[in-house]
Order: sequence, then C-alpha cells, then structure tokens
Amino acid sequence: MPNTRILSLQAEHVGILQGRYERVLETHGYDGLLISSGAAPTRYGDDQSWHFQGFGPFLHWTGLTGFEHAWLLIRPGRKPLLSVYQPVDFWHASVELAQEPWLAAFELLYSESRSAPESGDISQLAVIGDPPLLAEVPGEHNPGALCGALDETRVHKTNYEIACLAQANKLAMAGHHAAQDAFLAGASEFEINLAFQRATLQREADAPYHSIIGVNEHAGTLHYQYYDTTAPTKPRSLLIDAGVRYRGYCSDITRTTAGAGEGRFGALVQGLEQLQRRLGSMVAPGVDYVDIHRKTHLGIAALLSAAELVSGLSDDDMVSEGITRAFFPHGIGHFLGVQVHDVAGKPELSPADAPFLRLMRTLESGMVVTIEPGLYFIPSLLEPLLSGPLGHHVNRPLINELKGCGGIRIEDNVVVTGTGRRNLTREAEV
Ligand code: GLY
Ligand code: MN
Ligand code: MN
Repeated sequence: MPNTRILSLQAEHVGILQGRYERVLETHGYDGLLISSGAAPTRYGDDQSWHFQGFGPFLHWTGLTGFEHAWLLIRPGRKPLLSVYQPVDFWHASVELAQEPWLAAFELLYSESRSAPESGDISQLAVIGDPPLLAEVPGEHNPGALCGALDETRVHKTNYEIACLAQANKLAMAGHHAAQDAFLAGASEFEINLAFQRATLQREADAPYHSIIGVNEHAGTLHYQYYDTTAPTKPRSLLIDAGVRYRGYCSDITRTTAGAGEGRFGALVQGLEQLQRRLGSMVAPGVDYVDIHRKTHLGIAALLSAAELVSGLSDDDMVSEGITRAFFPHGIGHFLGVQVHDVAGKPELSPADAPFLRLMRTLESGMVVTIEPGLYFIPSLLEPLLSGPLGHHVNRPLINELKGCGGIRIEDNVVVTGTGRRNLTREAEV
C-alpha cells in the first residue's frame, strides 16, 4: 500500500490532468476523448501474446500498466469514466483495482466486452490508441495535432509523478546494489539479472525496458540484450542499465563497476563518474539540454586525453573531428515518465552533430531527464578511426587492452526544479 502522501498527491494529479486535458480539447475543437489502454497483440502464427505494458496517455491518468482492453473517457466538466475489461474467464485471473482514494474522482464501469464504452452526447469525439484496437470505434482516430498537444501535457511532471519517479529510483537502486554485489562475487549475467529482480521484486516482463546487463566486452554493446549463463574466467567489468516501474512510472539507471585488478579501467570509470556529476549539476531551468550534450563531448575529450587514449589534439579538435563520437556515440539522455523514453522531447529533427539525441529542449521546472554519458570501446566505431588519417593520435595498444572491458555508462534521473535540480538517483543511493 503506498503512503498517504502519494495517495493524496495522486488525487491532486488527476485534478491537474482534468484541467490540462480540458484546455487541450477545447483548443482543438473536441468535446470528448476516448483513450484505449491497449492490448498485447497475438504473435503471428501462434496463440501466444507479446508482453503488455499499456498506452502512455492511459498510464498518465491511471498508472495501471496491466489493464488490457480498458478505456478512459474524458469529458469536460465531468468525471472521467474508467471502463475495466473483466470477462468471465477461467483461464486467467481477473485484473484487480486496489481500492484507493484516486478512484473517487472516476466513474467506474466493469465490462465483459472489449468494446469501447458508449460516448453518449459527445458530438466531436477523438479516440486515441493503437490503431487496430480502434477500428470499430466511432470518432476521429489519433488526430495528429491533438496527439501532439496531449504529449505536451506529459512534459511538466506533477508532484505526484515526481514522487512516483523518486520511488521508482529507490526501488531500482536496491537492485543495482544487489547486482553489483553479485558481479563482485563472480556471478554470470543471468545470475546478476536474478539478483536485480529479487531485490526489486519485479518480474522481467514488468520492467520499463529490458535490463541491459553486460559483463566484459558485452558492456560495449549499447543495448546488449542477452544474458550469458556462465561467468567469464576473468570478470573485468559490469555495465548494468536497469529500472523499475512504480505505479506506471519508470526509473532508468546505469552503473558501471570495474572488476578486481582493473586499475586503468577503474580510473576511467571514476573519471566518467566525475564528469557525469558535473553534467548533472548543469540541469536547471533555462539551460539548453543540447548544450549539456555538447559539454559532454568536451568532457569526454578531456578524459580521453588524460587517460592517454588520444594524444596530440586539443579537446575542441577531438570533438570537431568526430573522435569523441567514436567513443560516445549516443545522446546525453531523454525525458522520463510513464515511458522510459518519454514523449515530446524532439519538436524538431536532432542536430547533425547529435543524430541520436532524444531531447532538444530548453529545460523548465517540472521536466524530468536522464543524464547518461558513456565511453565505450566499440570495434566497429574505433576501427575506421584507427585506420583513418587521425589514427596516429589514437593509442591502439591501450584500446586493445581496454576493449575487453567493453565500456562505461553512468545514468541518473534528474528533476528540473524552480531553481536547479533534484537528482532522484543520487538521493536513492544513500
Ligand atoms: N535504458 C535505455 C536508455 O538509457 O535510454
Ligand atoms: Mn538506461
Ligand atoms: Mn536512458
């Protein structure tokens, strides 16, 4: 049972959403909005389904990740109607709604049918959700301008959302500590994953994303997706990027640990940690997030030079020549919320020098972002650099020594406040 503070913040959250949604509907000329929770499609040629997690706008209102074929009807000036699909079914358990105070703000309906609820006297109805599930539903489906405006209602988190994200960080950090202990005790990737799940009491299908657990060179694959069931003879490094959902809200945390005797790699981990903390402390209202991304490249250049991985070039030249991108190919982070890569971060295309950056906005109070610099030894990115005209600046023997450690990423979840920031991950670490 969540604490009373979270429950009372949730009632306030629902009231805030009602106001935001009413304004958006009025601006776009609708007098009703039907939101589908979604449903996991059955796999082609099979009778099994994909894992289900729920559609973002439905989670924004309810936090109910496991409710398939549910609907939410938003009407200006009236309580939202939550229709829960509850068939008579002896194969599966029925979904259960915990009796919590926020439900008093909803009209509740249990339905044995997957169909959308009647929309009554609504004349201009918009319907949003996964298109195949909307086929039989009257109304305008997924209108682009409206969907963009609804995404925008998710950018500035309410106090309830921030409390949930803080709790998601706390739960996940317990998992990260257990994972690190397991690695240092010689566990395999598979066993490290079990340690994370056990400490977080979260089954893998419910995680906000597939946990990335890379030991040794696997740490150099940005979204490494397998788990070796045997540990390497010499465990040199662990990169674990794993989070927890709490009432629908995601944490997205990465930690990297050097194995015993890995002094050089350990020093690089420490260097990146210092850089990550500096970048995190740049988060404040009015700061252009793209600037934090660009400062990251300068920081990576300084690290490369201090570690003697690159020599004979200034930090600025390392950035402008694309050398830092070969070691840090992704963006500095993204919005975080009911989706791990939350919506509305990219009103325009990413800049040419940061093609994978998922957030290009000036920071404002209430936004929640990740700060996740990385430094990797990825052969497919480093080989062209080593064999190109600038290759003589790059220390091939040292790269050969370190590439068995894969890489480093350190990722925190940070709230932009009125005057600065709150680092939810570091708060959870103590
Ligand atoms: N876990 C995926 C990411 O950090 O964006
Ligand atoms: Mn991550
Ligand atoms: Mn992330």
